[in-house]
Amino acid sequence: MGEIIVGLDIGTTKVVSLVGSVENGLIEIVGMGKVPSHGLEKGVVVDIGETTNSIRRSIEDAETMADIKIKKVYASISGKHINSINNSGTVSINKPNREITLDDVRRVIETAQAVQIPPDVEMLHVIPRQYIVDGQEGITDPVGMTGTRLEVDVHIVTGSVTAIHNIRRCVENLGIEIEQIILQPLASSYAVLNTAERELGVALIDIGGGTSDIAIFRGGDIWFSKVLPIAGEHLTNDVTVGLKVPYEEAERIKKEEGTPIVDEITGEEQMEITLISEEHKTISRRMLAKILEPRLEELFDMAVEEIEDAGYKDLIPAGIVLTGGTAMLNSLPEYVQGRYNIPVRRSKTPQGIHGLRDIVESPIYATAIGLLKYAIESKEYREGRIGRRSFNEHKHSLFSKVLNWLERINRFFRG
Ligand SMILES: Nc1ncnc2c1ncn2[C@@H]1O[C@H](COP(=O)(O)OP(=O)(O)OP(=O)(O)O)[C@@H](O)[C@H]1O
Ligand SMILES: [Mg+2]
Repeated sequence: MGEIIVGLDIGTTKVVSLVGSVENGLIEIVGMGKVPSHGLEKGVVVDIGETTNSIRRSIEDAETMADIKIKKVYASISGKHINSINNSGTVSINKPNREITLDDVRRVIETAQAVQIPPDVEMLHVIPRQYIVDGQEGITDPVGMTGTRLEVDVHIVTGSVTAIHNIRRCVENLGIEIEQIILQPLASSYAVLNTAERELGVALIDIGGGTSDIAIFRGGDIWFSKVLPIAGEHLTNDVTVGLKVPYEEAERIKKEEGTPIVDEITGEEQMEITLISEEHKTISRRMLAKILEPRLEELFDMAVEEIEDAGYKDLIPAGIVLTGGTAMLNSLPEYVQGRYNIPVRRSKTPQGIHGLRDIVESPIYATAIGLLKYAIESKEYREGRIGRRSFNEHKHSLFSKVLNWLERINRFFRG
């Protein structure tokens, strides 16, 4: 077996633990645990005990399958509390030979991190978008260049201290260490976007059960991120109410027969449903589409407005890539493409992943696989094997460290 890494995707509908064995940059999936998620609402932990239990079960399944003990994980985070800002920083290079070193890069990123954020918010990622050396823009790795002035543009992702702390607590309750917490769409992007799309400009939308996470990439890196609180569970709820069926039946109907394109279905396409009263009924597929369409319209109007407001509508020639469970809805890419006149595709199977192929191909696992890919690249970066810059070495804020200590002391005294 190669080096072991573990991705832990804590979603609203399911928790996935994925164990990867890494050799020569290739990942073989050797273990996985997928269990229903309890204790989260719209991507955020609302019940620590329930969430801890869901994580425990998924970890145990993965451990059994891989025949290992999991000690460290890369965990995902999402939720409406996530925000992002762009900032920049400047340092001067005063050495006689004026050669830029890794230390200068660290220094300039540190200055770019000096932004005012509220005390209940902490930084999750500080991602360099480009370096500027003596006015020359578009530099991806300035180490080894010479100059007198080094600037950097960074993308900063922040989250609520409480939400981040709760995720830590659920995982640490199990005696497992968190290597890093990664924003869900950033992780997913490592699984489903290709290099050309990331360079050219693309919007990734991960539509899960509780949240739809948007991330915009250009020039290889993330430029914008936003989490919207509408996703698959809302669609199912709408079907429950609209057709008077139980939740499980609404899920089935949505997955098997659902589509947002009302016009393409004639009134003759019929389907059987089972009502809450347990009676069977035949309805038209068109009726179902009429229930789903307004919610998807609301969701995508919001998403496109976010992209427009951020000023990126004309900067994403590669269009939109859809992933997450709801991306599997029949005709969804066609619907979005038709409505907004932007190229849209569903995510494809990630590259460089082996083992458990049939499972891994589903967009439901995009975040978990992305966590593994992110982990590998960030390790290679830290060990100096690759010169990329997407991996912040941001240390967690003093405030959250103090919270963590207090928490540990408290647990120690409670035994
Ligand atoms: N074939 C399908 N068609 C439509 N929707 C589907 C299909 N398969 C799964 N879904 C929906 O996908 C959603 C789950 O997606 P996913 O597993 O990506 O969510 P999650 O990661 O648990 O949640 P989140 O990321 O929002 O916290 C559910 O609402 C489910 O109904
Ligand atoms: Mg998800």
